[in-house]
Amino acid sequence: MTGPLVLGIESSCDETSAALLGRDRELLGHVILSQDLHRVYGGVVPELAARAHLDVIDDVVDEVMRQAGLPLGRVEGIGVTAGPGLIGPLLVGVCWAKALGFALGKPLVGVHHMEAHLFAPSLEDPEAVPPFVGLLVSGGHTLLLHAVEWGRYRLLGQTRDDAAGEAFDKVAKLLGLPYPGGPRVEALAGEGEPRRYVFPRPMLRSDQNPEDADYFDFSFSGLKTAVVQEVEAVRTRGALESEKASLARAFQDAVVDVLVSKTLRAVEVTGCRRVLLGGGVSANGALKSEMARRLGPDGRLFHASPRLSLDNGAMVARAAAFRLGVGEVATPELTAEATMPFPGLTTSGGEWPVSRER
Ligand code: KG4
Ligand code: ZN
Repeated sequence: MTGPLVLGIESSCDETSAALLGRDRELLGHVILSQDLHRVYGGVVPELAARAHLDVIDDVVDEVMRQAGLPLGRVEGIGVTAGPGLIGPLLVGVCWAKALGFALGKPLVGVHHMEAHLFAPSLEDPEAVPPFVGLLVSGGHTLLLHAVEWGRYRLLGQTRDDAAGEAFDKVAKLLGLPYPGGPRVEALAGEGEPRRYVFPRPMLRSDQNPEDADYFDFSFSGLKTAVVQEVEAVRTRGALESEKASLARAFQDAVVDVLVSKTLRAVEVTGCRRVLLGGGVSANGALKSEMARRLGPDGRLFHASPRLSLDNGAMVARAAAFRLGVGEVATPELTAEATMPFPGLTTSGGEWPVSRER
């Protein structure tokens, strides 16, 4: 497997990241700079994020090339997250990448951020390739799909309101934990007592059928409301400090149960026992271990290490290498799209495609 040296650039939210992928898709350099400045606001402030990307993007790419020991002129292809995400932050990356492509005379391709998350595990495990059932769980998206091959995906379910990561962040705020909340909630949940509280499993009922519109879909806003009400009740009896960990545990258990149960429905219906987790929430240890446990020994579970589960430029470079490899090149009109459609994702499909295990 030999391909071009591809530079990937990610700036869709609050990480400025770039990576250089080698000819055998190995990482030659990789820098992820997380913006700390949003912490005091309890969430990402888009305008500040965009300005911060602009301040550091030159240095981030310089450091990637220094790690690789190569001059910028050796880059042979460029990939940049063009959406979905925050429009200001996205525009910084897209404009910067367009300027670089023009200056070097090298092909540039716009990458879909969530498709890039699908590619992250393959950076560390060459077997993490389609066919697989993919669960993408991030701060803005919750998607369940069947990847027939790279670039050809069938959408099975998605969230109807909040994303899984968003629910973690909101519950963290409620419990007085700083942003980003996911890792904090997970750490706190680890100290909680299992089943001391039990929260509802939204859109998960045993009487649902694959034909039902909500069989694969998710909803997390009602769960968040249930947590709000319980937290208020516990606060009223003056016990919040000592109960926080068990509340976090019950919330995490509910989210994980729904995510795993819906993914296993997809495994059942597609007949594909290969499951891939992607997006920031896939860094969650409880999600990974519960998925592995319920998938059983005859299934395969793929996920990236925590560093590559969160937003990073390496996954963007890897997705770009695929897109460039199939002949896609952006025109000079390339721009950022806050709500970019997922390439190759269809809802139709008639009969379920039979996955051949590999
Ligand atoms: O993919 P990502 O880094 O950025 C987006 O594309 O949104 O995902 C960020 C989300 C945040 O909501 C964050 O709280 C969540 O992933 N997250 C976690 C964990 N680490 C990050 N959620 C649960 N457990 C974690 N360990
Ligand atoms: Zn992401």
